[in-house]
Amino acid sequence: MKPVKVGLLGLGTVGTGVVRIVEGHQEDLSNQVGSPIEIAQILVKDRAKARNISVDPSKLTEDPWDIVRNPGIDVIVEVMGGVALTKEYILEALERGKHVVTANKDLMAMHGQEILAKARDKGCDVLYEASVAGGIPIIRTLIEGFSSDRITKIMGIVNGTTNYILTKMSQEGAAYADVLKEAQELGYAEADPTSDVEGLDAARKMTILSSLGFRANVSLDNVSAKGISGVTQEDIQYAKRLGYEVKLLGIAERQDDTISVSVQPTMIKRSHPIASVNGVFNAVYVHGEAVGETMFYGAGAGELPTATSIVADLVAVIKNMKLGVNGRQAQLSYNVMKLKTDEQIASKFFLLLHVEDRAGVLAQIAQVFSNCDVSIESVMQPSTPNQSSTEIIIITHEASKAAMNQVLQAFESQNSIRKIKSVYRVEG
Ligand code: NAP
Ligand code: HSE
Repeated sequence: MKPVKVGLLGLGTVGTGVVRIVEGHQEDLSNQVGSPIEIAQILVKDRAKARNISVDPSKLTEDPWDIVRNPGIDVIVEVMGGVALTKEYILEALERGKHVVTANKDLMAMHGQEILAKARDKGCDVLYEASVAGGIPIIRTLIEGFSSDRITKIMGIVNGTTNYILTKMSQEGAAYADVLKEAQELGYAEADPTSDVEGLDAARKMTILSSLGFRANVSLDNVSAKGISGVTQEDIQYAKRLGYEVKLLGIAERQDDTISVSVQPTMIKRSHPIASVNGVFNAVYVHGEAVGETMFYGAGAGELPTATSIVADLVAVIKNMKLGVNGRQAQLSYNVMKLKTDEQIASKFFLLLHVEDRAGVLAQIAQVFSNCDVSIESVMQPSTPNQSSTEIIIITHEASKAAMNQVLQAFESQNSIRKIKSVYRVEG
């Protein structure tokens, strides 16, 4: 039986996993698709680099066009990363009738619509399961599993690096910089880890998930993002005392034809299943009008988990080739949605204030909340004997983002409040 020929763009963490799975599971895979799968060519930046997998050196090339323009290649698997040039290679591959499997969330979040439109025109598949939540088949689940429901909320830990860092900070009191280095060594972090720690990687993934979940064209500009670089050990410890964990959460909500999508460090009640998702693990919680609550859990990054999703996409493409139905993905972005205003976005909030320790200060603070129509759920003042200042921790009832901004603005001009140390969204 003629093999299906794959051109692999990239042989780093994920590319190595793809080679291992295609070779190691060859018999199972060919039984499922009806022909052998051959990785025929591999793009790398440096052919001379030492690798922790042995591949036939004659398959390696440093020229992407060798693969993209090779008429013998049926499917391109893109695991090199990057946006501008990578997009050129993928569009050219589609132009030439090749199917594409990619793990590239940056590319799909920024140019997904254009790439998918080109794929449709050319009768090609573009599948990107590995682009969100590594080994969890969440994209297929949103497209197919939830096709009959109306999703109202998607809440996810979708970045493994930051979850690994927050877990180690919470459980071991580890220092942020040390754990980031560890996550890089383990192959979890992006080439530039700023996109992990500043929430951009998660924002790109939430763009993809919310577009699919809400069947709308959500653009990256619609997603507000804040990362974990400002999360302190003090915040984590206070959260724990109050029964919360700090997690970098992507939160997408829909009400009728309005949506909001954001990424931010969030305090989540320990009893919520997502609070116990630790280490490099990811989880995506999906609430549907009909189904209610569901949650999907698994490794969010790393060589083999990510490669599993890629090779599963490869299997889907090849099955479509056999059936002659490539490029028939349904148009999913048929809903037109408006972004919620700050008045329409509501949650509970956690505030850590550094204030003067004297009579009347708590009353002033309470007055500000009252003036802005924000109701307080609980207040805690840790004991700091014989000091002129203290800390106050407040958890609010659900309030709009606009009202909370008014509270913070009012605090800025109050002398008795020395510093607004932290503000977190609270969930669960
Ligand atoms: P990586 O380890 O840095 O590997 C990148 C590979 O691409 C390397 O083999 C590199 O060649 C090659 N490459 C990069 N730029 C190139 C260029 N201009 N020309 C030729 N070759 C080039 O990256 P990775 O962690 O495997 O991630 C790959 C993609 O998967 C990224 O889009 C990432 O966001 C996504 N992803 C990663 C994970 C994960 O856990 N790591 C999970 C999900 C998705 P050399 O080997 O010669 O340097
Ligand atoms: N850097 C990403 C993460 C890789 O840590 O989640 C998986 O997309």
